[in-house]
This record gives sequence, structure tokens and C-alpha cells, in this order.
Amino acid sequence: MKVLAILGSPRREGNTEILLDALICGAKEQGGEVEKLVLCDYNISPCIECETCSSTGECAIADDMQEIYLKLLTADAIVIASPIFFYSVTAVTKAFIDRGQALWARKYLLRQNPLTKKIRRGYFLSLGATKGKQLFEGAKLTIKYFFDAIDARYCGELFFRGIEGKGDIKNHPGALQEAMELGRKLTAL
Ligand SMILES: Cc1cc2nc3c(=O)[nH]c(=O)nc-3n(C[C@H](O)[C@H](O)[C@H](O)COP(=O)(O)O)c2cc1C
Repeated sequence: MKVLAILGSPRREGNTEILLDALICGAKEQGGEVEKLVLCDYNISPCIECETCSSTGECAIADDMQEIYLKLLTADAIVIASPIFFYSVTAVTKAFIDRGQALWARKYLLRQNPLTKKIRRGYFLSLGATKGKQLFEGAKLTIKYFFDAIDARYCGELFFRGIEGKGDIKNHPGALQEAMELGRKLTAL
């Protein structure tokens, strides 16, 4: 069981990373093989819509995303963790997602269905400072369509409101427990 845990927050040791680390802890407890990918440590350029992938299924941009495609295709479970920035995911997460267009092209234009023999499962962790009802709606749609594009099933989510200061997530009753539990659960499946 290979879990790819993707950190989309640019703030190291912030709320999203603390939450993701709790999930990783639960997954490892169950014997899961976890790779943590800190997007800010990678050089990921935005998609330039050159359309190369429409005919080849390959992205023409030679940067770190090239090694990430393989990780996405070989994981059993993919966890994306991003805080809410302006009602969406962070910029680095969005750049990574947009580069998923190459996999979208394989699936929908080149009809390489399924993309891999493995059925991959996708999970989304998010949090934000405010408490509005629709706080996660925009980001959730983006993540759902991304998982669809890379041929992963959207299998679960954890959202936490009212989390702003660095480390505030530690004071949330139950958040870290829930993340750890999800880590255990997704590894046991
Ligand atoms: C540029 C920026 C935009 C933000 N936009 C929102 C927002 O639209 N809604 C919200 O509730 N919080 C917003 N926040 C607050 C963060 O989601 C919140 O501080 C979160 O805890 C950050 O997580 P981190 O510690 O992992 O970076 C924003 C923060 C920044 C820096």
C-alpha cells in the first residue's frame, strides 16, 4: 500500500502540514508505505497550454513535475493537503493540478483508459481561517476534477474551519485524531 501525501501549503510546519503529518502517522502505524511530497520543494511551472500533451499525453515542460507524474500513477492512495487561499487551493497546489492536464489528455483525448491497472483513491485535507458554509466548495470541485483527470476516485475529505495562526490546528478538538484515523483507514482498505 503506497500512500502519496502531498503538502500544498507554502508555510512549513503550519496547520496543513501538522494535519497531514497526523494522517501520515496513522498510515504508517498500519504499515503503509508513505511518501511525503512537499510541493514547495519542487520546481513546478504553471501549464502554458502548449497543447503538446493533447497529441502525445506527455507534458513538454522539463521540470520536477516529470518525476511527480510517475509518483501519481504508482500510488494506491493520494492525499492532497492544502489550506484555503482565496476560496481555492494554494498557488503551488494549483500549478501542480494544472499540470495534471497531461494525464487528462491521456484519459480523455487519447483514450488511454484506464490510465493504470491500479485503482487509485484520492483524499483531500483542507482548512481555513473563516467559518463560512461554502469555504471548501471551490477547492473541493478543483480537487474532485483533478482526481477524475488522473483516474483516481474521490474517497474522502477532512475540512476544518476557524484555523489561522501557525499551529492553531493543535488546539482543535479532534482534528489530529480524525486525520490519524483517516490515515489508518485509508491504509487498511
Ligand atoms: C493568501 C492567503 C489567502 C487566504 N485566503 C483565505 C480564505 O479565502 N478563506 C479563509 O478562510 N482563510 C484564508 N486564508 C487563511 C489560511 O487558510 C489559514 O491561515 C490557514 O490556517 C493556513 O494554513 P497553513 O498554516 O498550513 O499555511 C488565507 C491565507 C493567506 C495567506
